[in-house]
Amino acid sequence: MTMVSQLRIFVPPHPLIKHWLGVSRDANTPSPLFRTAMTELGRWLTYEAARDWLPILETTVTTPLADCPATFVDPEVPIAIVPILRAGLALLEGAQSLLPLASIYHVGFVRNEETLEATCYLNRLPETFTPETRVLITEPMLATGGTMMAAMAELTQRGVDPAMVRIISVVTAPPALQKLAVAYPALKIYAAMIDEGLNNNGYIVPGLGDAGDRTFGT
Ligand code: URA
Repeated sequence: MTMVSQLRIFVPPHPLIKHWLGVSRDANTPSPLFRTAMTELGRWLTYEAARDWLPILETTVTTPLADCPATFVDPEVPIAIVPILRAGLALLEGAQSLLPLASIYHVGFVRNEETLEATCYLNRLPETFTPETRVLITEPMLATGGTMMAAMAELTQRGVDPAMVRIISVVTAPPALQKLAVAYPALKIYAAMIDEGLNNNGYIVPGLGDAGDRTFGT
């Protein structure tokens, strides 16, 4: 029998995730508090995404009283965080606080507001990744999916296994989820919410507006 994998999107039912989502959606939230909300969402979504993803090592330690089985994060398996600039930087601090040994590889995309095409203006990815590398992508908005499809292409061309990738995102919309499901059925996404859809400018509705502008006060 052939196993068919399928994109899985997880919306963790956690009160802290709901709380910080509400803060980030509110148009009256000032930029410093918006950044706090993004940091907290980065932290809790990474916590959820890491459950079945972090490589572990079973060993033993000796307590002051006896030998005892112990589980550690395996330091031999590379962990990479890929923030998608600009807005992905907002989730980075929370993610990095839980994965302090991860390497951070920045990738920058800008979206043409008329065609909605994503163009890569910065790529700090290494030439190759080993296939067991765990990759966490941080991107607060999955709207049309154009940017994330381009980012996934850059990663898989360099040897990343889509089954080892977790995306953390705050607000997602069906067009992006559908594109990613078709192209990368083994991918897993952890999001605070799946919203109804997009407006004519490609913004998620109700969404939270422009995540980059709100993070950086522009
Ligand atoms: N990017 C944003 O910042 N917001 C959206 O709603 C869609 C894409």
